[in-house]
Amino acid sequence: MPLVTSKEMFAKAYGNYAVGAFNVNNMEIIQGIVDAAKEEQAPLILQVSAGARKYAKHVYLMKLVEAAIEDSGLPIVLHLDHGEDFEICKSCIDGGFTSVMIDGSKLPFEENIALTKKVVEYAHAHGVVVEAELGRLAGVEDAVKVSARDATYTDPAQAAEFVEKTGVDSLAIAIGTSHGAYKFKGEPKLDFERLEKIASLLPGFPLVLHGASTVLPEFVDKCNQYGGKIEGAQGVPEDMLLKAGKMGVCKINIDTDLRLAMTASVREYLYNNPSDFDPRQYLKPAREAIKNMVKHKIKNVLNCSNGL
Ligand code: G3H
Ligand code: 13P
Ligand code: ZN
Repeated sequence: MPLVTSKEMFAKAYGNYAVGAFNVNNMEIIQGIVDAAKEEQAPLILQVSAGARKYAKHVYLMKLVEAAIEDSGLPIVLHLDHGEDFEICKSCIDGGFTSVMIDGSKLPFEENIALTKKVVEYAHAHGVVVEAELGRLAGVEDAVKVSARDATYTDPAQAAEFVEKTGVDSLAIAIGTSHGAYKFKGEPKLDFERLEKIASLLPGFPLVLHGASTVLPEFVDKCNQYGGKIEGAQGVPEDMLLKAGKMGVCKINIDTDLRLAMTASVREYLYNNPSDFDPRQYLKPAREAIKNMVKHKIKNVLNCSNGL
């Protein structure tokens, strides 16, 4: 089974459920995620940020994912997360990835179109699919002000024009989520009216949600119980993500929740076993924590069990 693109996964998911896109940085994270997807028979996207690629090196991540496919027999998409220029996208395409994101969301509209189009032309010529982003994920301050929302959230008419002009395969949109563990001040809120409008102008077209970790209090509390100091964290409620998955969102990005699960586990182990210094002893439960987190996501957030 070789690496696959997300084309068929998204076609099958559209309107029913979302595929999880999990950020990977090392072997234990990859093994935990893949074991969970295998047990749940769920479609799977593993994604690599520029930072992860720098940390682990392209070749190590590539070989680890190849090993995961050989070991599990699962079809897996290997995706570049937040590619910031043509060069990094080209390097990942040439290096065997099956999907890339070109993130021109900080650029003016026409420049984002031009850059995305250039990546799409190169990627499609090599059998690789492309995700782009339009609109900017709001920070906690922006999310509460209506004027800031209109300035940063994705404009539905622009989204339709963008997809038509670029030929991109999927589009990340801004409707109120944001990266990291501090997503909302006060009550969490996503702009579902905007999502509905975007989906109605782009029927059948796969939309993507970044910044979609739920930041479950039990993991924050566990980190803090064993020496951590994480205050004011708040994520996207699970029911909102389930709803988005039925409205045209086909890919949901998750990184922060994996970090919290892994760190809580390592903290707990080392706190309870202060004289132990064998990395396998704390990485084994950490890998299990990643697996449990991903199984929970597949069942309660993505709704994609048996989606293969
Ligand atoms: O959206 C960004 C991902 O959470 C990756 O984060 O750049 O620290 O690897 P990173
Ligand atoms: P979280 O920080 O909410 O996990 O989002 C991850 C993400 O969007 C990666 O691109
Ligand atoms: Zn992101």
